Amino acid sequence: MKPRSLVSIDDLTTGEITKILSLAAEFEKNPVQDILRGKVVATLFFEPSTRTRLSFESAVNKLGGKVIGFTDSSSSSVTKGETLNDTIRTVNNYVDLIVMRHPIEGSARYASEVSTVPVINAGDGANQHPTQTLLDLYSILKTQGTLDNLNICMVGDLKYGRTVHSLLMAMSRWKTSFNFVAPEELKMPDEYKLYLRNLGLDYYETADLNEVINKADIIYMTRVQRERFSDPMEYEKVKNAYVLHDHMLSDTKPGMKILHPLPRVNEISTDVDANTKAYYFEQALNGVYTRQAIICTLLGLKK
Ligand code: CP
Repeated sequence: MKPRSLVSIDDLTTGEITKILSLAAEFEKNPVQDILRGKVVATLFFEPSTRTRLSFESAVNKLGGKVIGFTDSSSSSVTKGETLNDTIRTVNNYVDLIVMRHPIEGSARYASEVSTVPVINAGDGANQHPTQTLLDLYSILKTQGTLDNLNICMVGDLKYGRTVHSLLMAMSRWKTSFNFVAPEELKMPDEYKLYLRNLGLDYYETADLNEVINKADIIYMTRVQRERFSDPMEYEKVKNAYVLHDHMLSDTKPGMKILHPLPRVNEISTDVDANTKAYYFEQALNGVYTRQAIICTLLGLKK
């Protein structure tokens, strides 16, 4: 039987998402346990990462498991021409679960199809980042007390931003009002807007953040990702499209929180960091508990 992998947020039912969020809350209360003793997890990062890799590794270490892997494919046999198929089939011999980040869209699905152990997609190109979404949902639930009927304002690189693509798909399950704020060049792709329309959900698009900022329960800022542009001039045109400053928050809802998957470049000014509406560093911490919940769920160690 194929092991259960997590490649897209749509691999999970709403009930399964809710269970993972409850489990994450349990791990937040008690993050150091022995559940993963004897288990080995591989972190295969073909693209750079700080939060995703380190929070996965922290999650495993706190639960008594061990981590092996690479942080740079140039230190692996990929540089000698090894295929992803052969890498995954080989790593299968050494571990109980694989966490993989790869620049090619669809690579995680492919890996999950050839793997004999669960594969967790830690980001595949501009496609999906489901574990980020689960920690985003956990952060939203913690700060808002509900996932229902919220107004989410997604800002910045909505074209290449895999975090907003996954989050849109997830939040569409909870009657969300979506506002998409992006320059023309970085608008939310049609396939995701069609996804919402097919569910009978509405969204509003604008290039002007001031138009929608005061309606938001969550402002989800994103970085304009230099690495996704083939033409550096195109990046130069849009790199400073939105910069959130503290003075812009004065009329926002009292319970509003600012999320960002991080890393940031300049899209949130550091003068926002001291504002109680800034939640992005707590959000990154929530990644440890959420990833503990995801790993244990996929390994069948928590029901
Ligand atoms: N949010 C996120 O994916 O951050 P890293 O690229 O640092 O892993």
